[in-house]
Amino acid sequence: MQLAERMKLVSESITLKVSAKAAALKKAGVDVVGFGAGEPDFDTPAFIKDAAKAALDKGITKYTPTPCFPELKQAIADKFSRENGLAYKPENITTGAGGKACLYMAFMALINPGDEVLIPSPYWVSYPEQVKLAGGVPVIIAGDEAKGFKLTPDQLEKAITPRTRVFLINSPSNPSGIAYTPDELKGLADVVAKHPQVIVFSDEIYEKLLYGGLKFVSFATLNPALMDRTLTFNCHSKSFAMTGWRIGYIGGPKDAIDAINKLQSQMTSHITSFVQPAAVAALTDPRGAQSVEQMRVQFEQRGQHMWERLSALPGVHCVRPQGAFYCFPNVSAHFGKSINGAKITDAISFSSALLECDHVAVVPGNDSGFDTHVRLSFATSMEQIDKGIDRIGAFLKKLV
Ligand SMILES: Cc1ncc(COP(=O)(O)O)c(C=O)c1O
Repeated sequence: MQLAERMKLVSESITLKVSAKAAALKKAGVDVVGFGAGEPDFDTPAFIKDAAKAALDKGITKYTPTPCFPELKQAIADKFSRENGLAYKPENITTGAGGKACLYMAFMALINPGDEVLIPSPYWVSYPEQVKLAGGVPVIIAGDEAKGFKLTPDQLEKAITPRTRVFLINSPSNPSGIAYTPDELKGLADVVAKHPQVIVFSDEIYEKLLYGGLKFVSFATLNPALMDRTLTFNCHSKSFAMTGWRIGYIGGPKDAIDAINKLQSQMTSHITSFVQPAAVAALTDPRGAQSVEQMRVQFEQRGQHMWERLSALPGVHCVRPQGAFYCFPNVSAHFGKSINGAKITDAISFSSALLECDHVAVVPGNDSGFDTHVRLSFATSMEQIDKGIDRIGAFLKKLV
């Protein structure tokens, strides 16, 4: 069948190919250690599930308003005000089917063909693809590993052109696991503030997963010029272990939110009715914050352990994770070597050989702008972390 021209803009996901191979091996009975998952290994807290079950029993099974029920809008506005110091009113809030759909709708609603979107690398795989689908031009600002992958104000200033429409910032970050300090973010915010044509998409979905005592700040609070020029993205996926529920939300200027609502009203209409009371419960019941913190403490221990073990491997260099649940080691010291006749030339061939020979699934960094790195998720048990890193060590020894 003839496909739409726009499908040529979207790249095939390399990550999905590696995941498919790992899934096939597992199905064939192979004991694969999976470091690929981008989701918490914890279950959704029971009180949140109970709220959804109660909503079903109450018959909350019909259409809802497009942004969502007023109770959820209010709960999100209250969360932004209480936790982030963002004075959004309910009219400044909308929801979407996960953080991913929120970002996509925002690109569609706010950028024109040819508009440039600045994306620091390494980046989450979907950003450039969504920008292209919306007719925009992704402009990648290459991260410097020696600077912990952190974009500097100077780099940002140099990347801004008269065509720049959006600056996208994601801290804590997928896939690098880095997180900016409030001062570092303030430096970037002050640069954006000088350029009135630039708006900000701040992807804050990993805000709760910060380590080493780092304090989270929302980008829009960092310069008075930015509140009216920033869209703040968040979701329940990672904080409350609710990836499958598809609950994302946006805070932003009313005209932008109205445009996104107009778009959504012609697309999916709204997020699922009976998950909305559960989304309210997660944000308002004190058990929500408690369960997030319990998860965070575990992730911090696992991240530290994975990072220490990775750093002890020969030819592996890893920036210490400060947030989210990812280590992003540089494995390029092993490129040019071979195993069983297969040559390792980049992160894809490294990941494929590691999976085939020693049954460890990692995500090659190619889709994130780094073909020298692989991403390992530590959203898995300490036992699995040790088993997987032992295997990676054995794999590296076999490379010649
Ligand atoms: C940085 C980042 N933004 C957005 C998303 C999308 O989140 P959701 O699962 O809520 O769509 C992800 C998911 O992995 C992510 O890592």
